[in-house]
Amino acid sequence: MLQRSLVLLKPDCIERRLMGQIISRFEAKGLNIVAMKMLRVTPDLAKQHYAEHVSKPFYPSLEAFIVSAPIVALAVEGLDVIRLIRDMLGATNGLNAAPGTIRGDFSSSRQMNLVHASDSPESAARELKLYFAESDLCDHELLLTPALR
Ligand code: TYD
Ligand code: MG
Repeated sequence: MLQRSLVLLKPDCIERRLMGQIISRFEAKGLNIVAMKMLRVTPDLAKQHYAEHVSKPFYPSLEAFIVSAPIVALAVEGLDVIRLIRDMLGATNGLNAAPGTIRGDFSSSRQMNLVHASDSPESAARELKLYFAESDLCDHELLLTPALR
């Protein structure tokens, strides 16, 4: 099923200059980047983005981290892309993430784990709207998913 996922390259990704390497993995896999922008997350946007976590003990520290530097938001499209990108990221805690995954290869932290990705079609629909207008999503013939050919 052709889906879209919301991916964030978090402040640690920008600060460590890993954007290119991580975007390259999505390109190499044949996924379509249909929108991309750099922005600064505000405390208000952080609370909307992490609505399911706002009441948890780790939330204040998570918010301080996500607003600490710019991020890059991407809308990524592909077959079964929501599950696929979660698999490419690996476990939440970089210490537990399998080698070969993005977090497994580049992170040893629970909080500074480089990349966010939507975890379900419902989350993806909700999260994409927080960062992009429908008119920001650039669908066109050249971006046909290779797996569909
Ligand atoms: P979560 O949605 O559980 O993980 P994921 O990013 O894999 O979907 O948590 C959101 C972020 O919150 C996670 O990327 C890192 C941070 N976090 C902590 O700092 N401490 C924690 O105990 C947990 C569970 C998450
Ligand atoms: Mg999550």
